[in-house]
Amino acid sequence: MRPVTLRTIARIVERGEKFACLTCYDATTARWLERAGVPVLLVGDTAAEMILGLPGTIYAPLDFLITITAAVKRGAPNTLVMADMPFMSYQADDAEGVRNAGRFMTEGLADCVKLEVDRSFAPLVEKMARAGVPVIAHIGCRPQLVKRSGGYSSVGRTAEEAQRLVADAVAMEQAGASMLLIEAAPGEVSKRIVEKTSFPVIGCGAGCACHGQVVVLQDLLGLSNWQPSFARPICMLGEDLINAAGRWIEKVRASDLGEHPYRMADGERADF
Ligand code: KIV
Repeated sequence: MRPVTLRTIARIVERGEKFACLTCYDATTARWLERAGVPVLLVGDTAAEMILGLPGTIYAPLDFLITITAAVKRGAPNTLVMADMPFMSYQADDAEGVRNAGRFMTEGLADCVKLEVDRSFAPLVEKMARAGVPVIAHIGCRPQLVKRSGGYSSVGRTAEEAQRLVADAVAMEQAGASMLLIEAAPGEVSKRIVEKTSFPVIGCGAGCACHGQVVVLQDLLGLSNWQPSFARPICMLGEDLINAAGRWIEKVRASDLGEHPYRMADGERADF
């Protein structure tokens, strides 16, 4: 299998094909997702919720995300791995942001980094692009702003908001972003963005006009307690886990463990 690069994604888009992206937070799952042919994996800051059980994405620790990004890349070496830069790893200071992006690329083995932005982040995106860091600009609903906005909600339902999103997307392309991710927005808005820009656009609850689509893996697999309406489960792996764990409980209770693989060496049992 040839490694998926940003160029591969650009070619998929040129051919008018769509591409899938899923979140992933560990090497084992990454290996299976690569075998399935998912070309792009996002090591999202949703790891804070899905892996660490924290109450929101703003609590995602930087070093933890770098560590699991490298794990995902080791599990899926031929997949494009996108690392999510967590809250306060790039907002306070551009130089610190560029250095942290560099850590994701070198220590985290990431192929590109994702930042939650609007057009005011254009200078930072320019600096990262200049330094050789491919940036995915995440616009629309920005979960890292949750404390300011008071909750997660869709964006771009009014003409003014929709125009602002289109302007953000255009500014990000001009600043040198390699791709766009738009979360929770009406389909007309992403369609307009796709028409007005020429970089690949990934939607997360943003309609079918986008070139790629991403959802949180646990939502798709029926493992989450709650999922957004655009990420309906396509199987109920949680139920399978309950069944498998139940079978293990029964086997343990019944001492039904199969033939034991380890034996004492001949003659040792007597001395023992
Ligand atoms: O962190 C994440 O998982 C994300 C996706 C939901 C787009 O940013």
